[in-house]
Amino acid sequence: MTMMKVLKGSVAALALSASVASAADVEVLHWWTSGGEAAALNVLKEDLQGKGIGWVDMPVAGGGGEAAMTALRARVTASDAPTAVQMLGFDIQDWAAEGALGNLNEVAAAEGWDAVVPAALQAFAKYDGNWISAPVNVHSTNWVWINKAALDAAGGKAPTSWEELVAVLDAMKANGITPLGHGGQAWQDATVFDAVVLSLGGDFYKASMIDLDAGALGGAQMAEAFNRLIKLSSYVDANFSGRDWNLASAMVINGEAGMQMMGDWAKGEFLKAGKAPGADFVCIRFPGTQGSVTFNSDQFAMFGVNSDDKRAAQAQMASSVMNPGFQSAFNVVKGSVPARTDVPNDAFDDCGKKGMADLAEANSAGNLYGSMAHGHAAPAAVKNAVYDVVTAAFNGQYADGAAAAAALASAVAAAK
Ligand code: BGC
Repeated sequence: MTMMKVLKGSVAALALSASVASAADVEVLHWWTSGGEAAALNVLKEDLQGKGIGWVDMPVAGGGGEAAMTALRARVTASDAPTAVQMLGFDIQDWAAEGALGNLNEVAAAEGWDAVVPAALQAFAKYDGNWISAPVNVHSTNWVWINKAALDAAGGKAPTSWEELVAVLDAMKANGITPLGHGGQAWQDATVFDAVVLSLGGDFYKASMIDLDAGALGGAQMAEAFNRLIKLSSYVDANFSGRDWNLASAMVINGEAGMQMMGDWAKGEFLKAGKAPGADFVCIRFPGTQGSVTFNSDQFAMFGVNSDDKRAAQAQMASSVMNPGFQSAFNVVKGSVPARTDVPNDAFDDCGKKGMADLAEANSAGNLYGSMAHGHAAPAAVKNAVYDVVTAAFNGQYADGAAAAAALASAVAAAK
């Protein structure tokens, strides 16, 4: 064979393999960039690679996904949408309403998704009766993650009421640690606020955060919620502003801080650091919220694509994401719980088992509510209005809770 022929042959082979690879690729936009999140993402990447689906990574750092959603808008505006996008609640519905999403009905019907995905998730995963996204998990925001040694030093009893919570935080302060590990970013402040509002009652959470009732948003209970949030803000350290959530988790992991109020993605950080529930850390529902859950579900929304190969890769990805074995393996690492009701809890640790039981209980009792902080209570415009007021309150910009509640009612009214 002449040199020229060899060269031609290998160029052709290269071109072929490149085109084959790209046809079966999925480009995935996501915000899973912390240690625990990346470990969970690897479970997904490896699963897909094992099935011959290539992974083109588009990570956009920033908890809660605000930055990722800004990057997505830019890509779609440039007519260059990624094939699959990690997305939350109302954002999925908004993109569907714009006609940007593909259709997963075929794989959903073949695999019987209707029967196994909870209705609360289907409300976001379907648009006009059509499946438009594949839910990979259910997270919830009303959790507290406590360093076990710090809790023992503070009396050893996990708090179950607001008064007990304040007593434990005070004891941790007296013991010379930062009571509350927290990052001052709007979405993190709002995550704490989800739990504080829920602790004043499920009906109140629903009236204010989901129904956006003006009386509930601006009334006495909301004033109390803000007074509690302002009280909590007194337990953070001086450097909290702008800190990423996983660094706040690290403070609890290494004992610098006593506890973090955060969704169960925080558990992924504890596990990644080799910590075990019960021995090294304790997971509780935010005091006063046991029995109720504020949830968010990460879903992969599939954008419209123009080739059969790409559509097939999307369907394969959706099928992989919905596989019961995968849902177990992934969520064990991620800290979340499965997005289908038929996955056994055997592989989950105690916090995961509790998460699954709490979710089922809240769901059957009618105490399951979408998280405002994570896009499952109201569309982005309202969510952002809530973020602004909550963050201002956390940073001491209102005279008291009543002033913050009044500001919240008018901000939400303007954003609706
Ligand atoms: C997502 C989680 C993620 C967290 C922090 C939430 O909105 O649902 O999957 O781990 O943000 O990045």
